[in-house]
Amino acid sequence: MAARIDTALARQVQAGPPAGRLRTLDDVDVTGKRVLVRVDLNVPLEGGTVRDATRIDRAVPTLREILARGGTVILLSHFGRPKGREPEASLRPVGAAVAAALGQAVAFCDDCIGGEVKRALAGLGSGRVLLLENTRFYPGEERNDPQFARALAASGDVFVNDAFSAAHRAHASTEGLARLLPACAGRAMQAEIEALESVLEKPERPVVAVVGGAKVSTKLPILKHMLGKVDHLVIGGAMANTFLLAQGIAVGKSLAEPALVSQASELMARARAKGCHIVLPVDAVCAPKLEAGVATVTADIGAVPADQMMLDAGPATIERLSGLLASARTLLWNGPLGAFETAPFGRATFALAQEAGRLTADGRLKSVAGGGDTVAALHAAGAADRFTYVSTAGGAFLEWLEGRVLPGVAVLMHETTSQGR
Ligand code: 3PG
Repeated sequence: MAARIDTALARQVQAGPPAGRLRTLDDVDVTGKRVLVRVDLNVPLEGGTVRDATRIDRAVPTLREILARGGTVILLSHFGRPKGREPEASLRPVGAAVAAALGQAVAFCDDCIGGEVKRALAGLGSGRVLLLENTRFYPGEERNDPQFARALAASGDVFVNDAFSAAHRAHASTEGLARLLPACAGRAMQAEIEALESVLEKPERPVVAVVGGAKVSTKLPILKHMLGKVDHLVIGGAMANTFLLAQGIAVGKSLAEPALVSQASELMARARAKGCHIVLPVDAVCAPKLEAGVATVTADIGAVPADQMMLDAGPATIERLSGLLASARTLLWNGPLGAFETAPFGRATFALAQEAGRLTADGRLKSVAGGGDTVAALHAAGAADRFTYVSTAGGAFLEWLEGRVLPGVAVLMHETTSQGR
């Protein structure tokens, strides 16, 4: 994995989003302008075909709006984590999927800066769309090199960032550019931020957060941040086991992180002090190993056999969580309640997803979910379309939940000018 080269800003932690108002497409004039639009075309490709076009579809309203207002669209994105110009990391095959989603031809340029781009722009009529090659073919992208950012800026008059899922990176195409041109968020970025703010900053209460997954170690910052924000914090998946251990409860052969028991205890004490109710499973579906179709037993927490692993929340837990949702107004969900990819250990996750979807469709709950596993689980449960908002972001969503400043968002919160850096 390539080392991330983010600025100090990206690592800064604060309680809540950056202050100020997000600049949106309502704040910039795009008519007759060349508009550099940062999208996230880091989509799954299989045999040259885009397998999941959700991120592309989300960018379409922004692109259509800019075109309808008389702008010319120049698309910028990274793709993968190439070290230099790697042919398999070319954005060329993604152009066809963008054209299909947009219903309009998309020209492609083999470079993202320099003479090639100049020539492509010279031949591009107004109201057209041009996709530039992967910004990560240049090391200046991840270094947020001002010179590289200036080379990108040379192709446009205005910068629109519609890639919330890349906003946790302080890169030239996500942060540097916004300092060089009049800049704003696109409609997808705006919708994502509004959805997240509506559940974390000014939610209708009670608020339930479900934080699941395998490891407490990766979710500790999220749990800590949630304590001050939500009324009920449901801890699910194998990470709940560490909290059970912290209460002196035996967890059999289950995955747990004994080294984090004291941090789990501290977190529970902080939750009590803040009036945040921590919710742990009361029963579990167990098996001797994680394997599809394996024989299972359901055990109460505290009575898990020594040779068994807890692999899903049990029926009593599902009932309790469903009751909690029924009395909640807002749900924020990241991470599954069990090993949902392996049958039959998806039952609790799917049941809760369906219940949240039902309550949302009935207008009784606002539900926001995100994170790769969670989104896959919601789709597997057939509930994704019923949620109020499902984030397409991975790392950026998690960093927002941790209360971090996202550099690609922060830079759109105040006046940006073309005065250079
Ligand atoms: C993502 O897929 O989460 C974004 O495109 C960011 O990609 P990155 O982790 O390679 O920066």
